[in-house]
Amino acid sequence: MNILGENHSINLAKLSEFHKRPPLYAATEDHFWDDPYISQQMLEAHINPTTDVASRKPETIEATVEWLDKEFFQTLSGNQIIDLGCGPGLYTSKIAQLGYEVSGIDLSKNAIQYAKKLAKKLDLSIKYQIGNYLDWRSYQKYDAVTLIYYDYGTFNPLQRQILLENIHEALKPGGLFVFDVITKNHEHQSDQCWEWSVCENNGFWMQEGYLSLSNSFRYESAAVDLSQHIIINENGETKIYRIWQHWFDPSTISSELEEGGFEMVWVGSDLQGTGFSHDSEAMGIIARKKN
Ligand SMILES: C[S@@+](CC[C@H](N)C(=O)[O-])C[C@H]1O[C@@H](n2cnc3c(N)ncnc32)[C@H](O)[C@@H]1O
Repeated sequence: MNILGENHSINLAKLSEFHKRPPLYAATEDHFWDDPYISQQMLEAHINPTTDVASRKPETIEATVEWLDKEFFQTLSGNQIIDLGCGPGLYTSKIAQLGYEVSGIDLSKNAIQYAKKLAKKLDLSIKYQIGNYLDWRSYQKYDAVTLIYYDYGTFNPLQRQILLENIHEALKPGGLFVFDVITKNHEHQSDQCWEWSVCENNGFWMQEGYLSLSNSFRYESAAVDLSQHIIINENGETKIYRIWQHWFDPSTISSELEEGGFEMVWVGSDLQGTGFSHDSEAMGIIARKKN
């Protein structure tokens, strides 16, 4: 059997390039979260209650909001909270049900449309906007900013600095920044792991058929893991999606927060009150704006 079409040949040299480690923080395809097709697949993953793929399961979200409210939100002097990367509004709607004045921002039009419909169905008044929180300048000041599901560590150091500046600017004095990151113990595929697969149609990355290569790389000295997905369509055109994840420990995240004008007031293994231990795979963090 010959898999080549007329006048086509496989460029083996190019394919072998895909197995090489890209430079640290090499660019990714721009449209990962807001591509109309991918964001629809992502939305389905977010709202699927049986998986933790894009959003955590409903019982985890419930426990997180309950703990944050009891331990931190109730201590705030005001009640204005914004969720960055709010997705389909799974946290915002729960927080609004507790009586807070809630806003959400997300790059994905599909996710925001879903979040707005959910708010309407639950008779909640939540302000949603489609936007990039890296370019965000807030005119309103908040008592707390949340950024949940390891999104902070997906950015490079300069982007994280910008993000911290934006959050600092958006918070009232003494306001809280609530987020989570991975640690080095987080599950990571080894550099030797390559996975080629074929999808005839309606796969995760595009509606038409494609061939994909998924591989991962660890950048030990920079404390970063990369999960890379190379998608090749029938015409041989490629798109490369890269998900970078910087890992932290309590001291590296605390210094980064200090530099950004925050004081770390709590660190645990999650955002449900579980204490931190040296084999924790993640950290839930509460930081307070210092000035
Ligand atoms: C892993 S999901 C988590 C969603 C939500 N926090 C949750 O846990 O259910 C990341 C979300 O952040 C959004 N996002 C990623 N980068 C963003 C950016 N720069 N500005 C705004 N939203 C962003 C994505 O569209 C996606 O909805």
